[in-house]
Amino acid sequence: MSDLLVRLYALPPRPPAELADGTSIRRALGPEKGVVSAWVARTFNTHWASECEMGFGGQPVSCWIAVRDNRLIGFACHDGTAKGFFGPTGVDPEERGKGIGDALLMSTLWGMRDAGYGYAIIGDPGPVAFYTKRLDAIEIPNSKPGVYAGLLPRI
Ligand SMILES: CC(C)(COP(=O)(O)OP(=O)(O)OC[C@H]1O[C@@H](n2cnc3c(N)ncnc32)[C@H](O)[C@@H]1OP(=O)(O)O)[C@@H](O)C(=O)NCCC(=O)NCCS
Repeated sequence: MSDLLVRLYALPPRPPAELADGTSIRRALGPEKGVVSAWVARTFNTHWASECEMGFGGQPVSCWIAVRDNRLIGFACHDGTAKGFFGPTGVDPEERGKGIGDALLMSTLWGMRDAGYGYAIIGDPGPVAFYTKRLDAIEIPNSKPGVYAGLLPRI
């Protein structure tokens, strides 16, 4: 699927830092890099874990996490492959359909806006309907495979 372009100056309202079920959505901290990266590799794949690690390369960290009862249940990051790119993101399969993915998406996009970006690019979006449901995102022509061209396969 082609990349999507999102207007960061026209985002839905900033989501709460804590959801009704007690899940907190927050920026990850440097000491959490290993834990987050290992969880993403185990739950998703090594490409996403590496992109996540890029988010821990500077300050402020550009990786957001969802935590409940001291347990990591989701993540989202930006600038993992190119500047201005949102993603990847993922929620524990057992925790999907509860609004956590949406809260991670919105928190990260607001974080990009706060960092000074005017637009976000959702790279290689996967479930497009998830993004277009609440965002007025438009497809970028001729953007597949785009910045990911020639990527080494996952291990
Ligand atoms: C995509 C993903 C992050 C969504 O997380 P989630 O916590 O289940 O999402 P939410 O509960 O916040 O859903 C928000 C809305 O998007 C919709 N939605 C969720 N996943 C969707 C999907 N795969 N396709 C279409 N719509 C989807 C929900 O129905 C919901 O709509 P509603 O508000 O009308 O009920 C999660 O399904 C996931 O981890 N998928 C595997 C990894 C992935 O594909 N990541 C994206 C590519 S980087």
